[in-house]
Amino acid sequence: MNKKLFKSLLAVLLSSSIANASSLTTEVNSSNLKSNWWQNAIGYEVYIRSFSDSTGNGIGDLRGIEDKLDYLKALGVDFIWITPFYPSPDVDMGYDVSDYKNVDVKYGNLKDFEHLVQTAHHKGIKILVDMVFSHTSDQSPWFIAAKSAKNNPYHDYYVWESPTSTVGMPNNWQSWFSGPAWEYNQATNEYYLHIFAKQQPALNWKNPKVREELANTAKFWLDKGVDGIRFDVITLNALPDIKQSSDLWGRMPLARTYLESLNQQVLSKYNILTVGEMPGVDERNADQFVGSESGALKTVFQLDIMSLGNDGNKFHPTDYSLVEFKGIFQRWYDGLYGKGWSSAVLDNHDQARAVSRWGNDKQYWQPSAKMLATFLLSQWGVPYIYQGDEIGMTNAPLTVQDFKDVEEINYYNEQIKAGIPESVFLPGLIARGRDNARTPMQWNNSKNAGFTTADHAWLKVNPNYQTINVANEEKDPHSILNYYKQMIKVRKANPAFTYGTMQIINYNDENVYAFTREYQGKKFLIVCNFRGIQTNFDTGIPNLTKDKILIHNYSEKVNIVNGSINLKPFEAMIFQLK
Ligand code: GLC
Repeated sequence: MNKKLFKSLLAVLLSSSIANASSLTTEVNSSNLKSNWWQNAIGYEVYIRSFSDSTGNGIGDLRGIEDKLDYLKALGVDFIWITPFYPSPDVDMGYDVSDYKNVDVKYGNLKDFEHLVQTAHHKGIKILVDMVFSHTSDQSPWFIAAKSAKNNPYHDYYVWESPTSTVGMPNNWQSWFSGPAWEYNQATNEYYLHIFAKQQPALNWKNPKVREELANTAKFWLDKGVDGIRFDVITLNALPDIKQSSDLWGRMPLARTYLESLNQQVLSKYNILTVGEMPGVDERNADQFVGSESGALKTVFQLDIMSLGNDGNKFHPTDYSLVEFKGIFQRWYDGLYGKGWSSAVLDNHDQARAVSRWGNDKQYWQPSAKMLATFLLSQWGVPYIYQGDEIGMTNAPLTVQDFKDVEEINYYNEQIKAGIPESVFLPGLIARGRDNARTPMQWNNSKNAGFTTADHAWLKVNPNYQTINVANEEKDPHSILNYYKQMIKVRKANPAFTYGTMQIINYNDENVYAFTREYQGKKFLIVCNFRGIQTNFDTGIPNLTKDKILIHNYSEKVNIVNGSINLKPFEAMIFQLK
């Protein structure tokens, strides 16, 4: 059977079982909710390199974030997750850490960090830091020592294998950033494992000393008063045997045991939010990691939608099925609601921009960005706004010369080496490359979008900053930014969006994602047209009236006849039903 047909049959089958299952869920018990500050919080991801540069070196920094706290406060978010700011050679832009307990000079220093935490707390904004515990940089003193000799005390901090007599490499595992997952080390005549770039050697969590170092690192930052931790690809800490397939990365039961013990030793002593980026965890096993009974982490990033809209290779974009998209959110809800807590994201620093991917960044830029805000902020799970999405920042017209991301660069080189013409692979790479989301935040229409006073920002500024920028949008009452602010207020004022049950309406509709949220006698209907076409949607509620609309992304009136809504391209609205 062809892959597409199989996928759509599967989606229909799942959708009917999901529709039945979802009607069975009952409201979460609210008795112990108050102690968990994060359940009704709204998060905002700050990609530090590109947020705000206070020193004029072309790279964002901690003081830069502090300068923008009032902006974040006015937006209405409760906490920010700051991407890694530790010393790093930046092969993977900070996700290759060379010293876990310090601040890279390009971002400031420990005092700046402490000051930021203090000021943010004073303004009522909480801070999450990012812990990259599955690997370090190859410039970490641990690795430099480890690779020097087999009997070095740090050697066992990493994952080593001897060459096999026949092929050299211990097995055929491939890294996620192109090429083999093994790199040869002359001094010890061994290979070390790297799941990402070769400058990111994997840590050996089997070694209790490694686990202790990492637990101490978490404690170090928590003692500075941070309010939570985002754990980078944390399920990769437990590795399969080298005779097994790399499909098992992220799927080893030990991952949970390691996290439970980290939690018991350190995390559980603080009133914090923890969120794991957990490859291999899905709606069927998530409650083992984040269920209220589980004792590992508090929440998990739900990133499965990121594998939609391509043919299995992330740089080969295709159309995506909205029914499959719905299926992902619904399955996670069915798997976790009432048992644990999730998150909601539409993009992040590793993805193309949400409005370019799920919306339309040209003709319907504004309505589609607002539609996505309506959707994201009415979902179950802690929502995360990725920096710049609140002003509708789009993918950037980058060229190969502009690329800074190691994943893009490695993939480019690999394709060229394989003799594949640019015309075949480059458009997909440009459309889905991670640099799209990493271009500097667009604050105003001055040089470099007001991000830096340097001549050049570290990554090219998207030329559309002349029109898409914070200053413009603050002035315009109909801007995407002001819509976000309004939608945040709608979520905050109505606990149903945080705690309520969720039920999809007309599941098989390929254009419209409509669902209800209900909690303690209040019920809301959210209708989002995900396509750039006009479409008719039957809500099944004959007496539906426009009098009870809480938010709507078009200025023209909603067109309802006997419960059917004639939706404009990317039109979205929320009704209060009871
Ligand atoms: C995570 C990060 C990504 C990084 C990778 C390796 O997926 O979000 O930016 O490249 O881990 O650390």
